[in-house]
Amino acid sequence: MTGSLMQIRFTTTWLSGWICVLTLPSMVLAQQAAALNPPDSFWQPTRVPDRIVLTWSEDPATTQSVTWRTSADVTAAAAQITIADPGPDLEKTAETFVAVTEPLATNLGTAHYHSATFKGLKPGTQYAYRVGDGQQWSEWFQFRTAKATSEPFSFIYFGDAQNDIRSKWSRVIRAAWQGAPKAAFMIHAGDLINTAETDQEWGEWFGAGAWMNAMVPNIPVPGNHEMARRGTARQLSHHWRPSFTLPQNGPAGLEETCFTLVYQGVRIIGLNSNEKQAEQAVWLDDLLTKNTEKWVICTFHHPMFSTGKDRDNKELRAQWKPILDKHRVDLVLQGHDHTYGRTGLETPVAAANAGTGANARDTFTGTVYVVSVSGPKMYNLQRHPFMPRQAEGTQLYQIIHVNGDKLGFEAYTATGELYDAFTLTKQASGPNSLLEQIPDTPERLRPPVAAEPAKKASDVLK
Ligand SMILES: [Fe+2]
Ligand SMILES: [Fe+2]
Repeated sequence: MTGSLMQIRFTTTWLSGWICVLTLPSMVLAQQAAALNPPDSFWQPTRVPDRIVLTWSEDPATTQSVTWRTSADVTAAAAQITIADPGPDLEKTAETFVAVTEPLATNLGTAHYHSATFKGLKPGTQYAYRVGDGQQWSEWFQFRTAKATSEPFSFIYFGDAQNDIRSKWSRVIRAAWQGAPKAAFMIHAGDLINTAETDQEWGEWFGAGAWMNAMVPNIPVPGNHEMARRGTARQLSHHWRPSFTLPQNGPAGLEETCFTLVYQGVRIIGLNSNEKQAEQAVWLDDLLTKNTEKWVICTFHHPMFSTGKDRDNKELRAQWKPILDKHRVDLVLQGHDHTYGRTGLETPVAAANAGTGANARDTFTGTVYVVSVSGPKMYNLQRHPFMPRQAEGTQLYQIIHVNGDKLGFEAYTATGELYDAFTLTKQASGPNSLLEQIPDTPERLRPPVAAEPAKKASDVLK
């Protein structure tokens, strides 16, 4: 290239660059001012399966449930499965499971939800599956069944996603995936969405998880935002049960919202903290009395010890904490307070009101309680002396590792920095030991909001 030609090209590039610099900001600002949510057509179903999600309704070692959505003109659907093979001829060995189809009337029209449970699977085996109606199929997804023995594994836990899910939660679930791409499952401790019956928000939630939901099973429990107002009553969103195929082994009337399953020696218990708390207390006590698994992890939405200001759940704590204490539940994963905080092994006695700052101590019950938040909605922090690590204004995800007698807990910020960590170790008898591994980084707090300057009389008159 000659020097003069280079000069011309440079000048042209330089000029066009400046034109862009001058015009783009005003264009972007104008677009932000007029920012619109995607049109309704973006969220509506077609014949092509979407919102595909793995869950368990039965034993994770030998079964796998899958649920998906189509338009209402798909009236019969199926799922096909085969042991995953590097060769592409997956159809040739696939077994077909007929799906159960149910309609769901939403604010965007009627959709059909389909579910199938693969049964008779081999433990610790990688399978490939697809879902569809015989003409429109999903891609083939792969998952791995649980091993039949207590082998080590990791899983992910999220607090509330809830708001701006597409815009600002999607990065968190994707960062969590990058941190634990072989996670056994993902726990969601309620408030997955903000408005219980708004189809667009469910679309945002499923869109953020996308193909990860089709490869890693989900274990969700409902928060108060999955409860819809019907007159003076609040009832579970019409979306919940069609969207997820979960165990129905809890108390009557709480199917797929209060349940238990065992994954490689860990008993997972999902509770519904919105309703029938007394019935669940009886069920939980009976379940834990009979439990023979080494580790017990509970998840529910409303925390035993609130990390948000003026949000104490005194009645729920009075009903459930004595049972968690009695059976020395290892770990309790919660949401609701849009902040982060977790206890050590000592917590205030059940009778004390944590919100008033009472600091009487149990003898070691051995239970660690965690509250976390993954979405962008943030509350002010309630400080507790019995919580060694807390945060506000921070989106987080957690990766938990179970390996024999040890349980390792790690909380990460949305940008992938370790924010909190500890390890529990089983003892021959009595409560676990706890090793604190909090990183040497500052506590994250939101900058104080400046008080609005008092208005002058002259301004008021304008
Ligand atoms: Fe909540
Ligand atoms: Fe929430």
